[in-house]
Amino acid sequence: MKHVLVTGGAGYIGSHACKALKAAGYVPVTYDNLSTGWQDAVKFGPFEQGDLTDAARLDAVFAKYEPIAVVHFAALSQVSESMQKPALYWRNNVVGSLTLIEAMLKAGCKEIVFSSTCATYGDHDNVVLDENCRQEPINPYGASKRAIEDMLLGFGESDGLRSVVFRYFNVAGADPDGEVGEFHQPETHLVPLMLDAIDGKRDALTIFGTDYETPDGTCIRDYVHVMDLVDAHVLGLNWLQDGKESRAFNLGTGNGFSVREVVNESRIVTNKDVPVVEGARRAGDCTMLVSGSVRAEAELGWRPKRSNMKQMIIDAWRWHQTGHYDQ
Ligand code: UFG
Repeated sequence: MKHVLVTGGAGYIGSHACKALKAAGYVPVTYDNLSTGWQDAVKFGPFEQGDLTDAARLDAVFAKYEPIAVVHFAALSQVSESMQKPALYWRNNVVGSLTLIEAMLKAGCKEIVFSSTCATYGDHDNVVLDENCRQEPINPYGASKRAIEDMLLGFGESDGLRSVVFRYFNVAGADPDGEVGEFHQPETHLVPLMLDAIDGKRDALTIFGTDYETPDGTCIRDYVHVMDLVDAHVLGLNWLQDGKESRAFNLGTGNGFSVREVVNESRIVTNKDVPVVEGARRAGDCTMLVSGSVRAEAELGWRPKRSNMKQMIIDAWRWHQTGHYDQ
């Protein structure tokens, strides 16, 4: 059996990835401390509770399953929280990843697929971003992810670790079968907060900033469907299994949507009013993050199937109305 260790497998993206990995013939072993994930979301393989910074626990899990590779999602990932509590991000994300890499090397496991972010690029004055853009993060979250990318390349030189790095743009949507979906507590992401406002779980969605230098004054993001995103991870794992070199790929569609455009599309999909209030800018937010790359399509053969805004909101809305986790 081809075990793959999936750190953060109880989280939003990790749980969808476990489903895709299982469908591709791998056995996903979730390693998660449940700080932001849900045990109920672990449905597609074994679960091992543990922290990324716990070296002894990692050693025991590597010895038990002898995974052929690691898919590394576990991280704190909120830009605004990272502005207020940078130490948390350096310790959890960077020290945690270092501990994980050391455990991998000790166990002889030398392939890793890593979740990085477009936040590593920073603000580039409305330029669409490809993988060769300078990485100049403007918040500790992005900086922590860039540091891990550097670390992976360094251990490639010293120890032969091979990595596929995915720089995600904004992830949305849910499993169309309704087995897993997006459920954060507290919620900070645009699409679920907006759906809460639509069905009255919140009074209104606050639009963070209406004075950006964009056509309608609100931030622009490139949204990718979680099912398409996790498909790329299977392709990334296969890439490493085929013995190919370390490589970084953007995962975005190249289509930018402003906050107001996302709100309007939701109004159309749900046929309901979206109560909004206009608020101040959120610290750490970039004006525009849009992928200008086709590298994942050209080299990995990645073909996004559900990453249009309508489909992402349809799938998120379905999960929003029917799905949740209790623990
Ligand atoms: N937004 C609002 N109101 C809200 C929530 C969000 O206006 O209540 C806006 C944000 O200002 C931003 C957009 O909606 O312009 C998307 O915000 P999210 O919080 O959904 O996502 P982020 O862009 O902040 O974060 C995501 C990932 C991060 C990643 C980042 C890159 O969650 O991991 O993209 O910027 F680093």
